[in-house]
Amino acid sequence: MGGGVMLDWLEYFHLNASKRREIPWEKGVQVTPAMRAVLVRSMQRFQLGESGDGFFLRRNASGEAVEYRHALDLFIKEEQEHACLMGRVLDLMRAPRLRWHWTDWCFERFRRLLGLKLEVLVLLVAEMIAKRYFRALRDGVDDTVVREVAAQICHDEEGHLAFQTDYLRHAYERWPFWARVLVCGAWRLMFRAACLLVWLDHGKLLRECGVRAEGFWWDCGLIFDKVAAGAFGGAAYPSLAGLRMPEFRWRSPVVE
Ligand SMILES: [Fe+2]
Ligand SMILES: [Fe+2]
Repeated sequence: MGGGVMLDWLEYFHLNASKRREIPWEKGVQVTPAMRAVLVRSMQRFQLGESGDGFFLRRNASGEAVEYRHALDLFIKEEQEHACLMGRVLDLMRAPRLRWHWTDWCFERFRRLLGLKLEVLVLLVAEMIAKRYFRALRDGVDDTVVREVAAQICHDEEGHLAFQTDYLRHAYERWPFWARVLVCGAWRLMFRAACLLVWLDHGKLLRECGVRAEGFWWDCGLIFDKVAAGAFGGAAYPSLAGLRMPEFRWRSPVVE
């Protein structure tokens, strides 16, 4: 990818690291027992999923421009921060962190086998669904800490989607139209299978947050369409330009 765009992404990640939401950890997490049960189970899995060290992503990117690799390091750092944030929420609910789960194991193994382009496509499947998932937590869990954590992650994920979309746009720009349509079609199938799995695994929590299956399905579809249009069709959003950096759509922490 062009050095110019990547330097801007470096600027974005540095700026984003300096503007974090203030989370009132001292309040603890106060949710109903029914919500706690589904929240713990679901968040343990997401926490595990975000806690990787990015080793294979870095390895696959070793031939890329140094600016991209540097931005990728900052991207991985944000993901690890998400794992820490969710870990703290679990600690406040006195729930253990998972060390292993079969969905995470399969996802990790599968990604190892791929080159960078395909790895980013697979990674984006998780990122797109995460965007909808954390939006549901932000809007649907009646607890300040959980909402603030979800709002921070949701905001970061938008940046991640745009960052990787910019990479894919560049990576596929020389591919013929029909080949991009084919790759995108296969990607959509993979994405839809993942949506189904996520609903089966996390649907109880999402329902507690007021999200219905059809809402989840079509919202995820809209997110996919936007990202695919950016990655394969050159649409302006999501992209660095689409984020209208540096004016983050920032909301001050909820004060009670
Ligand atoms: Fe994340
Ligand atoms: Fe992410």
